[in-house]
Amino acid sequence: MAVMKWCDEFTVDVSWLDEEHGKMFDLLNEIHAGVQAGEKHFRLHYLLDRLVSCTESHFAEEEQKMLQLGYPNYENHRLQHKVLLNEIRLLQTAYREDYVSLCSEALAHMKSWLTNHIAGMDAHLARFVKRLQDRDPNTNDPADL
Ligand SMILES: [Fe+2]
Ligand SMILES: [Fe+2]
Repeated sequence: MAVMKWCDEFTVDVSWLDEEHGKMFDLLNEIHAGVQAGEKHFRLHYLLDRLVSCTESHFAEEEQKMLQLGYPNYENHRLQHKVLLNEIRLLQTAYREDYVSLCSEALAHMKSWLTNHIAGMDAHLARFVKRLQDRDPNTNDPADL
């Protein structure tokens, strides 16, 4: 069974964000399935490395977009990315060095940080992006949106 299913609850209605979040969900589910199936360590390392690099590139892309668009909550959002990335990198290192196993608690924790971040900060960013797309051409200051 998947650790979490992609559903409307996690959709922010901005296609590039939803696509990338979907990829992160898929990887997390693949790790979960691998753990349950008793996959070898090297395979789980590989999947975890992919999740970390997917998260790094997704966060970098979001941050670049926020800067481009003049998103007013950029600093807070970037800071939360930094904290989340540190956590997942710590888990990656601890797993590589055999300090932790990829147990259901670790996966549940990753699930909850991903879903909370999407439902909170990313949903806020998505509303900003959508308002920007529909905005009045006379509005010049993104902070007014
Ligand atoms: Fe995101
Ligand atoms: Fe984000």
